[in-house]
Amino acid sequence: MTLWKHKEQIGECTLYCGDAMAIMPELEKVDLAISDVPYALTTGGVSKSSKTMSGIFASHNYANDSQLIMATVPFPEMMAAIYDVLKRDADCYVMANDKNVHPLTQAAIDAGFGFHNLLVWDKVTPTANRWYMKNLEFTIYLWKGRARTINNLSAKQLIRGGVDKVSGHPTEKPVYLMAEYIGNSSQQGDVVLDPFAGSGTTGVAAVGLGRKFIGIKLDERYFEIACERIRAAYRQPDMFSTVLDQIEQEAMI
Ligand SMILES: C[S@@+](CC[C@H](N)C(=O)[O-])C[C@H]1O[C@@H](n2cnc3c(N)ncnc32)[C@H](O)[C@@H]1O
Repeated sequence: MTLWKHKEQIGECTLYCGDAMAIMPELEKVDLAISDVPYALTTGGVSKSSKTMSGIFASHNYANDSQLIMATVPFPEMMAAIYDVLKRDADCYVMANDKNVHPLTQAAIDAGFGFHNLLVWDKVTPTANRWYMKNLEFTIYLWKGRARTINNLSAKQLIRGGVDKVSGHPTEKPVYLMAEYIGNSSQQGDVVLDPFAGSGTTGVAAVGLGRKFIGIKLDERYFEIACERIRAAYRQPDMFSTVLDQIEQEAMI
């Protein structure tokens, strides 16, 4: 019996449809892990009536207690599995909202990672909230083994740029954000892993930068969407000449 429902090879990308926690221990060791990991989201003060809105506010995304439903994996097990699948010296980026930054960082340190920096994405369009609108998301930047210098020494903590909405995934990240981290912590031909790849954004960025990619998606719908996005990325090899120009960075300090 295989551990995955489907496996698709597209160019230098290997996409699995299945449970990342079951598949990660079976993988070859990778050069970089980068993932927008799953966790339960709260409504952040948005009234229940707002759930009639489309996208992330759609009613099917909510349980009865108004918690957003996303499949979750305990952070300690998640970070230990990611640590184990990385090569001896490697970087790791995990994304979290404000409420999950602390427990996710603690789980990463407990798994053996070193903490480099807290990176910030200003998505410009804020999410409604009664206690300050939320326009920021966070990326915990970690290392395993020997700490390595990033490729672009001018890179700053803050990246500002709009959201992408091409896949229909409720938490789709922009390609330029994943490209920034992949470009800084890997080389051409390296293997990049996103164990919670959702609609495949990290894979699109990896293809654009000439990296190999391994992505795991739990559900079949987004597996198909991710495969199609990655095929499209191979058909558009020069996409980063324009995408990277759109990144606007500002120093936080
Ligand atoms: C925050 S989303 C990632 C979205 C992605 N950054 C994008 O741009 O589309 C996390 C994804 O992990 C998936 N997920 C949850 N548990 C999983 C598991 N055990 N194995 C693989 N994927 C899982 C969720 O279904 C969700 O699509």
